Amino acid sequence: MALILDGQERESIVRAAAALRQGQLVAFPTETVYGLGADGLSGAAVERIFAAKGRPADNPVILHVTDFAAACRVWQASAAQLARARACAEAFWPGPLTIVLPAATEVPPAVRAGLPTVAVRVPAHPVAQALLQEAQIPLAAPSANRSGRPSPTRADHVLRTLSEGIAVILDGGPTAVGIESTVLDLSSKEPRILRPGMVGRAEIAALLPEVRDLEAAEPQSILASPGLRHRHYAPAIERVAIADESAFEHRWHGDEVFLMRVSTFRRLERTLGPRACPVVMLPDDVEGFARALFDTLYRLEHARTSALALEALPGEGRWAGVCDRIRRAAGK
Ligand code: TXA
Ligand code: MG
Repeated sequence: MALILDGQERESIVRAAAALRQGQLVAFPTETVYGLGADGLSGAAVERIFAAKGRPADNPVILHVTDFAAACRVWQASAAQLARARACAEAFWPGPLTIVLPAATEVPPAVRAGLPTVAVRVPAHPVAQALLQEAQIPLAAPSANRSGRPSPTRADHVLRTLSEGIAVILDGGPTAVGIESTVLDLSSKEPRILRPGMVGRAEIAALLPEVRDLEAAEPQSILASPGLRHRHYAPAIERVAIADESAFEHRWHGDEVFLMRVSTFRRLERTLGPRACPVVMLPDDVEGFARALFDTLYRLEHARTSALALEALPGEGRWAGVCDRIRRAAGK
């Protein structure tokens, strides 16, 4: 059974770092979601992450490091690749951006799922930073959920889907960002966003004008981003659908729980009148929406919701990340 420790306490960090150095697993908060960490330079320790999560072996994990200099030690990149990475790191690290570049030889194949590249990020959360400083090793850490389930944004979410094989869970309270980092591939000729997140395309394009989104429909994009192959973010709810405003009109007197922005509900309510079944309203601003999303999905499944209709969100700009997670939660 995992030991749940207060991440604010110095002693907890020391204990968690010792467990990591012994090859054990530690769940810890980052500013995006909770990660399930292991010594990123030990193939055996990283294998334990895959076993605990039931993660397909072909889906590589992210290395978390203290700063840009530490990232450079796990990459083996050209001067041009490093110049791009440095520009992004200066703008967005520590923070919710992951950068993919060719891997140094000491990065075990298990981290990379056999790819020649490795994904790296510097988390901003003080508990994650304290843990990295204390452990003095890069930490391999996917989101701390059973493979295919929503990412945890609170310590107790970790235990909803995982139990075996975790030595320590560091509790750092609810996470601030709420969805996973933007994954940016700088290993190919043109920079590509493999997974949208709260560092938006426009912000990256201000530094790298040639950056483009990965076309999820292209078969070759599946190779670039192995994570796209697998089902993600599925709540334990029997029926999950995506609905636009006209679909909500048709479903207004049905039995589904609705999850939508406050302003969307207010607008529909004015013409359609009150609704008998529950409506969960999330903030209109993208930051507030992202922060609440996964916690809301866990609450709804805990309340034994059997049918859920999620608002179809705009896919542009800063909404691209949450839009992607909603789509995948509905199995699209
Ligand atoms: O915010 C986050 O990124 C969280 C926190 C814990 O840092 N981590 C996270 O990890 O979301 P995970 O494993 O759930 O997602 C990692 C994503 C996957 O889509 C994976 O395919 C991709 O990053 N990825 C990892 N290494 C890669 C590589 N070498 N090339 C391409 N994609 C890679
Ligand atoms: Mg994940």
